[in-house]
Amino acid sequence: MVSIWGAAIAGLARPDNADPADAPLAASEAGLRGQFPPDKHGDLVYQGYRLFTATPVYGRRFSGNGLSCANCHLDAGRKADAAPLGAAWGMYPAYSAKFDKVVSFAERVQQCFQFSLNGLPPPLDSRELNALLAYSQWLARGQPAGEAQPGRGFPTLARTGDDPNPWRGRAAYAQKCASCHGGQGQGQPAAGAAGPPYAVPPLWGWDSYNKGAGLHRVDLMAGFLKANMPLGRPDLSDQQALDLAAWIQLQERWPDPRKGWVDRWLAR
Ligand code: HEC
Ligand code: HEC
Repeated sequence: MVSIWGAAIAGLARPDNADPADAPLAASEAGLRGQFPPDKHGDLVYQGYRLFTATPVYGRRFSGNGLSCANCHLDAGRKADAAPLGAAWGMYPAYSAKFDKVVSFAERVQQCFQFSLNGLPPPLDSRELNALLAYSQWLARGQPAGEAQPGRGFPTLARTGDDPNPWRGRAAYAQKCASCHGGQGQGQPAAGAAGPPYAVPPLWGWDSYNKGAGLHRVDLMAGFLKANMPLGRPDLSDQQALDLAAWIQLQERWPDPRKGWVDRWLAR
């Protein structure tokens, strides 16, 4: 998929979002819709779920790469130690060191659009953002507000006494990750598709997160990997997780949009 900046440069217009209501429900999803409230509120929650799990399809007005929210927030935002949304909801508004200000939950979602999805922050009154809020709030039902829940965010790894080593990470990548994510970190398109949505998401390159994203930080990435990769059977040592994070951080991806390169490019 062409990124949002690539599309702008090529002068291509992005088509409007697909309307989730138009798409037929897969059998597995019909049961899921039944869990949400049986009314318009449930429709909004369901729309948020679909945006979350197929972001390049339903969120493409604002997303700029081939990733879905659920590629990082695993099990559709429900898995502990993969930044589950239910545990996050009650902790906002919260101070953000990255921006040195207090941000709302909605602003936090906007940040993942800007950095993890290499796109644009959806306006606070957009249908997309509102649907994601509805889904997150539904996931958090019954959870106490303002109390840190176990499994929030990613685990923090203790220091190992050895620096993260990208060359060891490179070897571990070939051994443990390349079979799914590809030798060039390019991921695998879903069957029959040439690009996103992906069956296995890209780890670097122009269809992945940009350099301002949380996963571009070695400590956050290492915590994510330790708890979650290889998918379904995580078995990395702390040092391997750090080494892999250092290797992945060396690869090419879109720059951090806060560095002002977009403005400079437009002002040429
Ligand atoms: C490339 C991976 C990636 C993608 C894609 C992604 N995120 Fe995130 N998200 C992160 C990381 C990393 C964090 C920071 C976790 C931490 O600080 O422990 C985060 C944090 C968050 C938080 C705050 C969690 C907390 O506990 O405070 C929310 C809410 C969130 N993301 C929502 C979304 C939504 C909605 C989408 C899709 C529109 C999305 N994210 C896409 C990686 C991603
Ligand atoms: C069995 C296949 C498989 C293996 C092996 C595997 N992954 Fe993944 N990985 C996935 C899938 C599939 C996802 C998306 C999960 C989802 O959407 O539910 C993912 C997601 C990710 C993500 C977050 C999304 C992104 O694109 O950045 C990272 C980072 C990641 N994997 C790194 C690794 C690393 C490093 C290894 C090697 C230790 C590895 N994975 C091994 C299948 C795999």
